[in-house]
Amino acid sequence: MLENKKFFKQLTLGSVKLSSNILCAPLAGCSDYPFRKMTSPFRPALIYCEMVKIDALIRHDPHTYRLLDYETDMHPIGAQLCGSKAHMAAPAARIIEDLGFDVVDFNCGCPVDKVTKDGSGSGMLKNPELIGEMIANMVAAVKIPVTVKIRTGWDEKHINAPEITAIAEKAGAKAICIHGRTREQGYSGHANWDHIRSCKEVAKNIQVIGNGDVFDAPSALRMFETTGCDAVLLSRGTMGQPWIIEDIYRALEGLPAIERTQEHYHRAFIEHFHYIAAYQSQRRALLDLRRISCWYFKKEHGAKNMRETFQKFQTLQEVQEWIPTLQI
Ligand SMILES: Cc1cc2nc3c(=O)[nH]c(=O)nc-3n(C[C@H](O)[C@H](O)[C@H](O)COP(=O)(O)O)c2cc1C
Repeated sequence: MLENKKFFKQLTLGSVKLSSNILCAPLAGCSDYPFRKMTSPFRPALIYCEMVKIDALIRHDPHTYRLLDYETDMHPIGAQLCGSKAHMAAPAARIIEDLGFDVVDFNCGCPVDKVTKDGSGSGMLKNPELIGEMIANMVAAVKIPVTVKIRTGWDEKHINAPEITAIAEKAGAKAICIHGRTREQGYSGHANWDHIRSCKEVAKNIQVIGNGDVFDAPSALRMFETTGCDAVLLSRGTMGQPWIIEDIYRALEGLPAIERTQEHYHRAFIEHFHYIAAYQSQRRALLDLRRISCWYFKKEHGAKNMRETFQKFQTLQEVQEWIPTLQI
């Protein structure tokens, strides 16, 4: 168990020294302010906000700025930019720096058609030179470290993550996160960690962050072992189990796992409910609760049943009255 310690390190991104090498991913529609209130007490090395569109940021769209809400105790915190217009990369990165973020990340992984159709998100994988240009423009504009998040390639026939790793390093990115799936895979099938290892082999100074299918401490250890990556980025694994960060730290220390009981899940749901109720409008909060209730109660009741239960609630008061039925 103690040999797990060799995987732990304080990741350094340029001038920013992080406390560990376990990071929390940007998750559009999920890693909002209430979500980050849940994960940040477990002290990930860095926590990313949901991706924001460069164009929307530059035209000062209020909804986009709200996605970037954070509190002082959420530092170190990263913002992620999505777009494909090279001339907008520098001003957008400057806005992120001015908002007080510690890191700015460039999204080259989003698979959604609406995003890729103008070449953004994983559409960038088809244009590695433009990835280099966008990164170089950001690096020249800000003092905070620039990172980039990619997939392994557009599809199995076009795996180019190692090539992009070299380009990103040359452009001045301090880290590259590789989600071990292609764009074609979306979120299905397995992440292919071999491609992450190939990126690590190409990397000279750029930090390589492994991502994909890390859902608990054993899989985090396997990611380090298999790929030789410098850090691990947690994504769906944080949904409904924010303590996964603590679980991984314990495993890295060689400490025994904490058994997570039904009570852990119930208490976490109630805490998350209060953060959502305090932050969102009632209408929005009720929608968000449908999503998070599936996370916290899926083992107990099944995601479908929880969705049905939460669809019946018309007000937050009704949810508040339902909460005492939970066993604690
Ligand atoms: C609901 C959802 C939203 C996501 N939003 C983002 C995002 O905003 N930016 C990003 O780079 N990746 C995003 N991702 C991708 C994840 O960060 C991660 O790369 C992917 O889920 C693979 O990791 P996993 O298998 O551990 O979940 C999202 C994934 C999901 C499921």
